[in-house]
This record gives sequence, structure tokens and C-alpha cells, in this order.
Amino acid sequence: MGNTIELDQVSKAFDGKTVIDSLSAAFEDGEFVAILGPSGCGKSTMLNMIAGLERVSAGRILIGGAQVQDSPPKDRGCAMVFQNYALYPHMAVRDNIGYALKVAGVPKLERERRIVEAARIVELGDYLDRRPSALSGGQRQRVAIARAIVREPKVLLFDEPLSNLDAKLRHGMRMELSQLHRRIGATSIFVTHDQIEAMTLADRVMLLNAGRIEQFATPHDLYHRPATTFVAGFIGAPPMNLMAVEGDGATLCLPDGTVLAHHAHRGPVTLGIRPEKIATGRGALTAKLLYREDLGSHSSLLVRLPGGQTIQIASPFGTEIGALDEIRFDFPADQIHLFDQKTGHRADT
Ligand SMILES: Nc1ncnc2c1ncn2[C@@H]1O[C@H](COP(=O)(O)OP(=O)(O)O)[C@@H](O)[C@H]1O
Ligand SMILES: [Mg+2]
Repeated sequence: MGNTIELDQVSKAFDGKTVIDSLSAAFEDGEFVAILGPSGCGKSTMLNMIAGLERVSAGRILIGGAQVQDSPPKDRGCAMVFQNYALYPHMAVRDNIGYALKVAGVPKLERERRIVEAARIVELGDYLDRRPSALSGGQRQRVAIARAIVREPKVLLFDEPLSNLDAKLRHGMRMELSQLHRRIGATSIFVTHDQIEAMTLADRVMLLNAGRIEQFATPHDLYHRPATTFVAGFIGAPPMNLMAVEGDGATLCLPDGTVLAHHAHRGPVTLGIRPEKIATGRGALTAKLLYREDLGSHSSLLVRLPGGQTIQIASPFGTEIGALDEIRFDFPADQIHLFDQKTGHRADT
């Protein structure tokens, strides 16, 4: 079984209010999974239940095939890294990393070996005698990670560990973390509300919405085959454009009769297209340009369709658009996503 994790109909309620709703999922041994979702959707609660910091209200949690939902945290083999990684300011890096081992009564020689190994993995080998105050934010975060991996956990749990770092540091830490995961090999779960972190770090992303899984898939599938309109609207910056249209078996039309695309669908449906997949500078459609931002690599355009709806377009033709106030474009047939209007579920298979 290795260090697999299985969630079997796990539920959590606080004061009678359901926060996690009969959630089932399986994580592979050594996999790096991100739990992504808006603030308050239950990410931390899910992680805390795996670690044993919160009890489940119902359901089972299995680590390496053994049920752990009733076990105390210390018996689960999980180590956690938090957003607020309070280090002991009066202790050197070496003692911060080794503190838990000391408390657990690990002999000095063994402790020193593991501290040096953990420090090597996070590339802090030369900083063991420094105090936290003499480290950068990124280095401090790495001490917190070393403190977790020094216990040689089966499972590493991260709860928004980069949220307090500035943008440049976060980018650097992202690259470090994915390399780090490969070196450690523990099954890792990384909670974040930041889609870029989730998409760049994880083998698979579990996208949560109000305590339920919207989609649990690779970053590629989340972007290219979103399972629901929620996923389509959450992943991507700016997110996918969504429009209510009517299919007559040959074309998809807006309520005012504008033909947006050719498709065999019949009946009402939600049409989705990503801003960066809209072909500009040619095509049968025109829209009024309301706003543009030139970002160098491309321009971000906000346009109004004839029927009144606004959509976003990411166009490589920044300056060529010039002072135009009308944009000509096209929805390529192979870039169209269809979703059921009632359920929000993907309608094209
Ligand atoms: N100890 C608690 N008591 C009551 N409600 C809680 C408790 N912990 C979390 N919640 C509620 O559960 C929901 C999910 O919280 P949380 O898991 O922290 O969300 P996230 O980490 O996705 O932002 C929120 O509505 C939050 O207010
Ligand atoms: Mg949280």
C-alpha cells in the first residue's frame, strides 16, 4: 500500500453546519496533491482531519491502508507545515529543526544525523548555527519544512505555507518545493487558494467548492476539460467566458440571434471559451471594445457582444488593434466547451 491516503465518505459538521459533505478520494503513494478552492470551502478542515487535529463527523480515513480516523495525531505519521510557521527565536536553526526529536527522546547522535540530512534537503546546511532572525523569509519557511521532514513522515501536509511571502519569494519557493517533493518522496498534500500554486506544484488538483469536490484531476485536465462551470470559472486568469446560448442542431446562438459558433448541439446550453483561445483580427463576429490593457506579451480586451453581454479576450495583437473600437473575432470550433445550464456539468463528451 505504501503511503496511500484514502478518504471514504468523510463528513465534518461544526455546530450542525456541514463543512465537508461525504467526500471520497484516493491519493497515491508519493503523489503531490493540491487542495484548491475559495476561502472557507473546507480546505484546512480537510487537512486537519487527515492530520488528526480535527475529528471526522462521519466516514473513514486510511493511511497506508490502515484506518486512522480515531487515532491520535502522533500515530498517523503526518507532519504539517503551516502558514504561520512560528520558529523558536532563541534557538539556532539546528535546534529548531531537531526540537521535536529531542522531545521524543531520540538519542543525540541519531538526532544530529537527521537534522543534518533534513537541512541538506532544504539546502540550509550552512545555516545550522544561525538564529531565525538572521534568515530571510524563504529560509525561515525552509526551516519550518525541515522541521516537518526531520520526523521522516509518511505524509507531508502543507496549509498555505507560502501565503505570507512576497510574490517573488513565492515563485522561488514554488520551484524549490516541487524539487523538494521529489527528493523527499512522501505523499504530500498542499492546501492553497492560489490556482497558480496548485497548477504548477501538484500532480493532481482537488478543486473544492463548499465542502464538495468539483473536480479531482491533473492540472492539464482542469484547464482543458473542466468538469463544471465552477471549475471553468475558477481556473484561468482571466477565467473562461461563459454564455447562455441556444443550439438548433447546426449553430449556437445568443438570445438576440447572433451566431457564435457551429455545433450540432440542440437546445439551451452554456457555451464556454477561454479568453486566450478566441481568434482575433479575423472572423465573423464583431464586438465593441470597452477596455484594453496592453501587457506586452498580449493585450487583455473587454468587449461587448451585440446582445449586450461582455466577454474577455486575450489577444496577441496588442498595438495592431490601435485605436479600433470594434474587434473582429471568431470562436474556433475545437475551443468550445459546453455545459448543462441546470447542473453546470460538462455537456460535451
Ligand atoms: N473550529 C471551527 N468551528 C466552527 N466552524 C469552523 C471551525 N473551523 C472551520 N469552521 C468553518 O468551516 C468552514 C471551512 O473552514 P476552513 O476549512 O478553514 O476553510 P478554508 O481552509 O478552505 O478557508 C468555514 O465556514 C469555517 O468558518
Ligand atoms: Mg484554510
